[in-house]
This record gives sequence, structure tokens and C-alpha cells, in this order.
Amino acid sequence: MKIAVFVSGNGSNLQCIIDKCKSNELEGIEISIVIADRNCYAVQKAKIEKIDCITVDRKEKWQLNIDTLLKERNIELIVLAGFLTILENNFCNQWENKIINIHPSLLPKYGGKGMYGLKVHQAVIDNKEKESGATVHFVTTHIDKGEIILQEKIDIKEEATASSLQELIHQIEHRLLIKSLKLLYAKAQSTP
Ligand code: GRF
Repeated sequence: MKIAVFVSGNGSNLQCIIDKCKSNELEGIEISIVIADRNCYAVQKAKIEKIDCITVDRKEKWQLNIDTLLKERNIELIVLAGFLTILENNFCNQWENKIINIHPSLLPKYGGKGMYGLKVHQAVIDNKEKESGATVHFVTTHIDKGEIILQEKIDIKEEATASSLQELIHQIEHRLLIKSLKLLYAKAQSTP
């Protein structure tokens, strides 16, 4: 299964997929291309691994070109791994049930426009939540509202801060993303 990974940040989730592909834990899955919407560490990670990588210009209308390119490459799944640009409705509809996203909260809580990075964890702490976690879900035209694929919870300790929570949840994200990829690959294999 050829996948495209969309990134905007540090690329730790990208690196995790790369490592698991290399170790054969994600046997059958291949990162065909990385798409970045800015110059970021994730781009360097892709380059080090010699994975094709395109950095799009957010000021341009790039989604139509990328849509064509992904189809030419027979991409079967798009993974948003810390991708901050909101995808256009047309793009989401073209790739219905073929785009997944990792979000650092227990969706539907703490999702939606503007809910990314530390803001998510700060809101969780401010609301004195007892638990948080990560969610992998399908992407639709409604931000963070697509069908949930997998979710994992953790208890929040009294002394937790937004940054300590972010660090903990980042680790959950990595394994949840890999688990989700395995699940979707198995499903794709069993569908005629
Ligand atoms: C993660 O927290 C992910 O949930 C969010 O963006 C962050 C990306 O981290 N969507 P990284 O770039 O994979 O390290």
C-alpha cells in the first residue's frame, strides 16, 4: 500500500512510520512521497531517508496539482502527521475514506479549527480534565469530525502541565498511528 505523508512540523510521527517500514513492522506499506506545507524538520527527515518530498507554497492553489500527482503515483492512503493546512472540500471529497489524521486529544473533545499543538493540551489542563489521549480518525470536510479509527486514553496527573501532557501524548500518538496503519492495511487486503 503506497502512502503519502503530509507534514508541517518536527516529523516525529513521520519518522516513526519510516522506522516501522524499515523494520518490516509495517510490511506491505511504503511511503511513496512526503508533502510539506512549509520548510520544517520533517522535510529534513524525508531527505535523510531519500524519500521524495515536495514542499508546496501555501499561497498558491496547490491542492489540485497534488491531487493529480498522488493519483499518478497510485497513492492509496494519505496520512496527515501534524499537517496544519486545512484541506479544501474538493480534496477531502476526492479522497473520501483515504485520508487519516492524528490528533492529540480524545475527539470529539478539543478538536476543530485552531485546536492544535500546545493549545489543545492547555485547554485540557484549564478544564481540569481527568483524562486525555490521542485519536486517529478519517478526514472529512468537517475539521476533526470524521469517523474515529482508534483512540487511546491516559489519566492526567495533578501536577501535569500542557507541555508534560504534550510529551506523554506524543508517545501515544506514535503507537496509535502505527496500529491504525496496520488495521487499515489489513482491511484493504481483505477487501476484494
Ligand atoms: C502531533 O501532536 C499531532 O497530533 C498533531 O501534530 C503533531 C505533530 O507532531 N496533529 P510531529 O511533527 O509528528 O512530531
